[in-house]
Amino acid sequence: VNKAIIITISDSCAAGAKEDTSGKLLLDLLTKEGFEVISKVIIPDEKDQIIKHLTAYSAAGNISLIITIGGTGIGPRDVTPEATKEVIEKEIIGIPELMRLRTSDFTPFAYLSRAVAGIRNETLIINFPGNPKAVQECFDSIKELIHHSISMIKGEPH
Ligand code: MTE
Repeated sequence: VNKAIIITISDSCAAGAKEDTSGKLLLDLLTKEGFEVISKVIIPDEKDQIIKHLTAYSAAGNISLIITIGGTGIGPRDVTPEATKEVIEKEIIGIPELMRLRTSDFTPFAYLSRAVAGIRNETLIINFPGNPKAVQECFDSIKELIHHSISMIKGEPH
């Protein structure tokens, strides 16, 4: 069974001022899709901390998927895409492209998310926007790509 990590990136959640509703929702969604979520962490919008977590979890060698939540927008503290781009070895442009395209049916603001996706050390890393509605919509929009990507990253025939 594929192992997954959820990293919620939010100053207010990390400070305990806001509940991590999105992280809990994603935990449910991933579990229903057959993933074993082995860790769910909350960190502030700090680039070095994001890089540190992405690097450590992808180095473990047994994590198929890391989804980050939040920090993908255009606010002054939003640095998740920059941190992700620094750690990925291959970018998969198509995953966030499809995410934005499909979910823009719900809101044109889908295109204000700068989410990226890519691979580091055979771990698929995907950024999601922060609000729970976005997490649900984005997950639904690309879940088939997640499953297929993980098989391909492992070199399984398709
Ligand atoms: N994508 C979907 N599918 N649904 C949404 O409600 N919200 C948007 C966008 N993407 C949204 C979405 C909004 S309002 C913003 S500001 C950006 O994601 C960035 O969100 P983030 O900074 O929390 O990552």
